Amino acid sequence: VTGAITFDPGYKNSGVCKSDITFLDGEEGILRYRGYAIEDLADKASFLEVSYLLIFGELPSAKTLEQFENDIRKYTLVNEEMKNIIDGFPKTAHPMGVLSALTSALTAFNPKSVNVENQSDLYEGVCKTIGKFLVIATWTYRKSMGYPLNYYDNTKGYVENFMNLMFSLPTGPYKINPIVVDALDKLFILHADHEQNCSTSTVRMVGSSHAGLFASISAGVSALWGPLHGGANQAVLEMLEEINKAGGDVDKFILKAKDKEDPFRLMGFGHRVYKNFDPRAKIIKKAADEVLSSLGVKDPLLDIAMKLEKAALEDEYFKSRSLYPNVDFYSGIIYRALGIPTDMFTVMFAIGRLPGWIAQWKEMRLNKEPIGRPRQVYTGSPLRDFVAADKR
Ligand code: SDX
Repeated sequence: VTGAITFDPGYKNSGVCKSDITFLDGEEGILRYRGYAIEDLADKASFLEVSYLLIFGELPSAKTLEQFENDIRKYTLVNEEMKNIIDGFPKTAHPMGVLSALTSALTAFNPKSVNVENQSDLYEGVCKTIGKFLVIATWTYRKSMGYPLNYYDNTKGYVENFMNLMFSLPTGPYKINPIVVDALDKLFILHADHEQNCSTSTVRMVGSSHAGLFASISAGVSALWGPLHGGANQAVLEMLEEINKAGGDVDKFILKAKDKEDPFRLMGFGHRVYKNFDPRAKIIKKAADEVLSSLGVKDPLLDIAMKLEKAALEDEYFKSRSLYPNVDFYSGIIYRALGIPTDMFTVMFAIGRLPGWIAQWKEMRLNKEPIGRPRQVYTGSPLRDFVAADKR
């Protein structure tokens, strides 16, 4: 029974849900959003186009997409009192902890919960979440730097706004590099959804009690933070820096990762579902090469990453366990080249994953799924008689 999942037709109390959103084939390394191949979407679509697809089920027409972008712009102002909350954090607070708190705090300023049964109410909730989340996500960085908090600029696109919100300063104009915007758009698409991963399952679980959308997303942010999940992209960079400091000796780290006595794992390697190459890792690895050369960035960590990947893929331990690079292995190399600080890498993951979390929350609620209630196999003590404290 341990680990078995009962596929209960009623889906009550089973560990498995029905979903029309994302298809994964771990053996073949296939990933599709609403039936569209991730390779096509990463190559031909924009992040907001894919967000619309994930949430509403169809690729939007050019007119609908323009309307969606404009409707998001209506909600990008964040209540000024939210600044009192962010001011309560020390500059050293990890951005993911601040983001989770600010996301939950959005409920206080938008108390009317999203009525998932009402189309226009739901649509407004979607636009509000996508608009405000981007702004507060960048505020976590601005706070850590002691910079003034920026506002969304309605004359710019969504990903351009991300760069502007993050890096523009009142001391002078900020030039947005289109190569960077294009790379980020692709990265956000590649992170947009991934069926029932840890953070998405958390969003569905919290949402199944009919907690609000902001509260459910806030819980997803916390789950994503862990180094075994979205936090791995930050851990990969820290690992590559350590290897670099050790003179690039990748074999020493391969050995460490195989040593059962040592808790060290090769970060960015392995996956619960993919027992083949993570298709996203392939696309990101190619993009890393292209972005670094077009920006004229030479990063020794990219060479180390490629050397480490080659050594691991030739190693029996990794081959026998089908451990391949996952989405987190190369993404940090690109973020670093784009000037994103390491402790913001998982926030980048969260910005990308937001439309997937919203789509999955909406599906769970529209399917009227019962409150999540996993069961257990009890392995504790049989019935025991109580013993008074002076007799123990
Ligand atoms: C993400 O679920 C998703 O879809 C997640 C995600 C998404 O888009 O939402 O794809 C994003 O979270 C990607 C994963 C990022 N995490 C990391 O890169 C952290 C390093 N990876 C591992 O911790 C691990 O591979 C997991 C957590 C990703 C998967 O763990 P599993 O499938 O539970 O693997 P396991 O723990 O059962 O390990 C199986 C064997 C064990 O060895 P044995 O007991 O058989 O001897 O493989 C070993 C593990 O020790 N192993 C590793 C390893 N990963 C697994 N050994 C060294 N380095 C690794 N990275």
